[in-house]
Amino acid sequence: MFLRLHKYLEQKSFALLLGIIAVVSVGGLVEIAPLFYIDSTIEEVDGMRPYTPLELAGRNIYVREGCYTCHSQMIRPLRDEVERYGHYSLAAESMYDRPFQWGSKRTGPDIARVGGKYSDEWHRTHLIDPRSVVPESIMPPYKFLDKAELQYDDIIAHLSANKRLGVPYSDEMLAIAKSDVETQLDPMAEDEEGFLARYPNAVMRDFDGNPDRVTEMDALIAYLQMLGTLVDFTEYEADLDENLR
Ligand code: HEC
Repeated sequence: MFLRLHKYLEQKSFALLLGIIAVVSVGGLVEIAPLFYIDSTIEEVDGMRPYTPLELAGRNIYVREGCYTCHSQMIRPLRDEVERYGHYSLAAESMYDRPFQWGSKRTGPDIARVGGKYSDEWHRTHLIDPRSVVPESIMPPYKFLDKAELQYDDIIAHLSANKRLGVPYSDEMLAIAKSDVETQLDPMAEDEEGFLARYPNAVMRDFDGNPDRVTEMDALIAYLQMLGTLVDFTEYEADLDENLR
């Protein structure tokens, strides 16, 4: 009887098509229907905030230079990755990323948690000449970033484009985005308190070793140094010890 049905379906292409649709939609319903009944597919975590204008400018350089072709920002929940890079990435950690930088192609290491791993000076030296600090490195040099003045006249447009896509930048943040670029680079800035209220846990200092200039190097290192630093994982780590290690 089953074989007869099979024979029938093989001979009638339209019936076969209907059969395929019926089978595939079961899978579709099981996967898609629940999404209409939950408010969010992203778990809640404390500490996430939108990028500061300087970090966002650095992120734009990261995307422009194609760093993502060698580096992912997505630690998978596999033992070797968790032991090497730290807690696996949570969806919430990239909820303000437009576009996100996930991936599994790792010509270079994953850098989702590289923030704070090295000094600013290390990053600068490494970006100028990777082989001077890691002799076997195949990473290309990005010497020009150290010389290029950061163009941030249009930074408000970048923030508002992100806002349009759902990143919660306030009108105040937009209005003073340009001066916030300078504020973050100046640890003695007058508006330090206001800045830190807008962007909690942001690192305020000069990043490229030259306080007189605002370079693309400043922006890129500011971005690298905050990656993976916003969410406090001590609680999760305890969980992890039980489950993974
Ligand atoms: C051709 C591939 C390639 C490209 C493109 C590339 N990298 Fe790398 N990167 C590597 C490799 C390989 C390493 C590991 C060796 C080393 O540290 O230099 C690395 C290491 C790093 C590290 C140190 C990571 C760690 O945890 O030790 C950082 C930070 C980094 N790259 C940032 C960048 C940035 C920023 C860009 C873009 C401006 C970039 N890379 C572009 C291949 C690449």
